[in-house]
Amino acid sequence: MTPVPSPAVMGSHPRHLLDFQDWTPERLNAMLDNADTMLQVLDRPVKKVPALQGLTVCNAFFENSTRTRTSFELAARRMSADVLTFAAGASSVSKGESLRDTMEVLTSYKVDAYIVRHHAAGAAHLVARYSGKPVINAGDGRRAHPTQALLDAYTVRQEYGSLDGKTVAIIGDIRHSRVARSNAELLPKLGARVVLCGPAPLLPAGLGALPGVTLTSDPRAAVRGAHAVMALRLQRERMSGGFLGGLQEYADTYQVNESLMQQAESGAVVLHPGPMNRDLEISGDTADGPRSRILKQVENGQAIRMSVLYHLLVGRN
Ligand code: NCD
Repeated sequence: MTPVPSPAVMGSHPRHLLDFQDWTPERLNAMLDNADTMLQVLDRPVKKVPALQGLTVCNAFFENSTRTRTSFELAARRMSADVLTFAAGASSVSKGESLRDTMEVLTSYKVDAYIVRHHAAGAAHLVARYSGKPVINAGDGRRAHPTQALLDAYTVRQEYGSLDGKTVAIIGDIRHSRVARSNAELLPKLGARVVLCGPAPLLPAGLGALPGVTLTSDPRAAVRGAHAVMALRLQRERMSGGFLGGLQEYADTYQVNESLMQQAESGAVVLHPGPMNRDLEISGDTADGPRSRILKQVENGQAIRMSVLYHLLVGRN
């Protein structure tokens, strides 16, 4: 496995991946570089390395998930860790048990790391504070989803060799999206520009203050000059109503489709974190077309999560 570069070059190693606040570009790039090695492992007939042998990873999902949960689970198994998967829907959380009480039960099993998804912003930070073990935030409310941003960054980097000087346009329900927030935090650290675009009520003005981030409600202006265009789902489960006019009206203006992509750079790629609502935020043609890297994102997600687990559990120096 590729050795992790020396600590002198990279600054002290954060214990958790909750957001990108404590992460230097060098450490982030090292994590992306290591994903190349992980992809090679995933190409072998035997897709397993002993890096996390003897360690137990707890996948604690208090909110629904398809890609994030399955890819973390597979990533940990590919690295020979034991995995305890906890899904709140099938647990005593549905009987009213609190996050703290549930986590205390899981902590008693002496697991070595936690992957936490929760509908409340800050939930992963809370677990990090009292679990004493590395915690990876797999999505906390609308606040952060760092491994999704890493896999998005990795997918764009794979296309262009580097993120330096690249522009990524993110279009949709920015207000309720932890994916948008984490990308807005990560991509500029890696040298890219981010344009966030959506109808004004779904576009919080405060995000425009982040370095390297601009806001617009005009999707054509957003994609002009973009090297990658990401469509985001309307997160209706997080809307208390009143944000949108009709869905058709939304699609008419903000849908990522072939006509909108004409305005982007000629080789621009299309991303979507999933789950997709086809023909709403993205046209079926574009999702399945030659620009789409949506399944690549899923494939890369497993390699990125292997790399993150490696860096937090064994590669700290
Ligand atoms: C995203 C999430 O959960 O924040 N999905 C994902 O992790 N792949 C985006 C979404 O739910 O729309």
